[in-house]
Parts: sequence; C-alpha cells; structure tokens
Amino acid sequence: MDRQVWANEVSEKIKKKVRIVAQRSRDKIPYTTVDGVFDDWRKKDICWWTNGFWGGMMWQLYHSTKDPLYRQIAEDNEAWLDENLMTARGMDHDSGFKWMPTAVADYRMTGSEASKNRALLAAGDLAGRFNPAGRFIRAWNDGGDGGKAGWAIIDCMMNLPLLYWAWEETNDPRFYHIATMHADTAETYFLRPDGSVNHIVEFNPLTGEYVQSFGGQGYGTGSSWTRGQAWALYGFTLSYLHTKERRYLEDALRVAHYFIANIPESGLIPVDFRQPADCAWEDSTAAAIAACGLLEIEKCVPENEKRLFGGAALRLLRALEEKRCNWDENCDNILEKCTAAYHHKEHEFSIIYGDYYFIEAIWKLTGQELFLW
Ligand code: GLY
Repeated sequence: MDRQVWANEVSEKIKKKVRIVAQRSRDKIPYTTVDGVFDDWRKKDICWWTNGFWGGMMWQLYHSTKDPLYRQIAEDNEAWLDENLMTARGMDHDSGFKWMPTAVADYRMTGSEASKNRALLAAGDLAGRFNPAGRFIRAWNDGGDGGKAGWAIIDCMMNLPLLYWAWEETNDPRFYHIATMHADTAETYFLRPDGSVNHIVEFNPLTGEYVQSFGGQGYGTGSSWTRGQAWALYGFTLSYLHTKERRYLEDALRVAHYFIANIPESGLIPVDFRQPADCAWEDSTAAAIAACGLLEIEKCVPENEKRLFGGAALRLLRALEEKRCNWDENCDNILEKCTAAYHHKEHEFSIIYGDYYFIEAIWKLTGQELFLW
C-alpha cells in the first residue's frame, strides 16, 4: 500500500481511539496502563520525567483536529507541572521532555505568555546544570553527596531543543553555547566509531576529565541500548536542524546507518542491539523514536538517499502497526511491548512516550505534525 494512504488510515485509527481515551483520562498524567487503564503520575510523582508526553499527545491531536477537549487537557497538564517547576530537587536534565511538549507547544500554538514564562524558567534551570569543566549537562540528581555530579547521558540530546528554543526566543547566545558544547561532548565521548552510542558517561565534575562509561539502561558496558541509539539519532538531527552545523547531521547519519543495519528481520526492535541471543525482550519506544528521527533525516539528505531513511522509518512503523498496536478502545494505550530498562525494571509494557512518538511519526507522514522539538 502507498505510504501516504497507509499513514492516513493509521491516523484515522489514532484519532478514533485517542478521542475516547482522552475523554475518560482527562484528569490524569499517564505513564503506563494497569489492566488497560492509564495510571496517574499527577498523584504518584509530579516530577517524573515523562509527565510532558500526554500533554504533547494532546497538542498533536489539537493541532490536527482543533477539538477543544485536547487543548483543555494539554493546558491542564502544563499547569499541573508548575508544582515540579517549584520543586528544586525534582528539576533535572529532562526539562526538555517535560516543557517542550507542554509549555513550548502551548506557546507555539497560542502565543500564551504564561507558557513562554514557564518554558524560559525551565530552560534557565537546564542551562544551570551545565558543567563548564567537562562541557556537559549534568543528567540526574543524587541524594546530595555529589555521586552523580559528573554523570551525563545520551538522552540529554533530546533535551537540548529547549535551550535552542530559548536561544531563538531571547537571542541570548548563552543557550546556544551550552547546547552545542554539550552536543560536542556527546559527539566525542558517547558516539563510538561504529555509530553506536554509550548510555552514561561519567566525568570528574571538578576537572572535567573522562572517567568511565556505563551500560545504564542497556545490557552492559559497551552494549547498545536501543532507546539510547534512538535518542542519539533523533537528538543529533535536532541539533543540526537548530544550528545548521553539518557535523551534527554527520553524527546523526552515523547513528542512523548503525541503527538501520541492526533492524531485525521482524522490524521489531530489541531492548539492546547487543543483548544475549536468547533474550527476546523488545522496546517499541525505540522503534517509534528512531522512526521520527529517520523521517527528519530523510528531509535533510539528497534525493537519492531519501529512500534509505524514509524506507527504514516506514519498516519500523509498519511493524509496530501490524504487530504492536492495540486498537481496542477499551484499552488506554496504543503501543505494546515497551521496555524501561534491560535490568531491574519492567519489560514489555505500555509507556506513554511510545504512544507519543508513534503518533508524532504518523503525523509527520500525514503532514499534521506540530513540530515540538
Ligand atoms: N530518558 C530515560 C529513558 O529513556 O528511559
């Protein structure tokens, strides 16, 4: 079936299901489903890093349908996050994931000054996590012992757009410098020669020297956590889109070639490209995020290279749609078999950002996207 026809059909299924789910979930900020019903992180932990994706989904749906229900839910989600903005210990490098799909989206859609204010506060906090000695943005907090003061993670590439947005909005180049210095550090210390990436890199927070890398949410040191590959693929692409610095596109292409070369026959993505052969755990989120990045790369490369990247994105999305989408309107999530981490966390359940990026990818294909990053 033609790519456009296929994507339009999937888009209709999304709209039909999400309208019903949104109506019954309007007072929540979901992360996963329990027996098909969204849980609520507004009550569990308002500072949780995924708390912007439901709002982002609502803005994408509002952008294409103009149905006021979606706008209202998105605005509520954004306002509830003010509690996080006022909780210092709950602010970490994930401000991009929280306030780009909520406050920045709102500002772009409506021009809301309150939303711009929230996003600028979040961007200022993110910029404040920059360590000038190591030229990296600190990822997570710790108990106050500084044990994680030197930790940076590949996921942060997806938070840099909040800094690019603040730079573009205020014309203050501090935001640009911090974002690009972090991206350059990621290029040097995270990106490996074969196009795979580390998840966590530890620097000495006083001297800035490289200490070691960790497998993090992947299988182990030197392995290849697929969501991390996807964050890098899409994240370097976004740095290129905001700065037009060719080196970031080259970085994204390296990760993309590596990712494409590792897509299994099934089109379904494992949790780690280097997990043991007898482990079949999947992560549908990695497929959806990578598809979004590949579709952006498709727009940046010459005509004769487009088919490689667009084709790979379509392969991932078709596999998800055929085998991993739940279209039952009694069940709140869409994507199934998402995995938080290889070790010590839940495997193969639903995760809200899986649904978000799947919708974003379909919206890219159908021209309905509100560009959030
Ligand atoms: N940013 C955390 C994760 O991808 O699980």
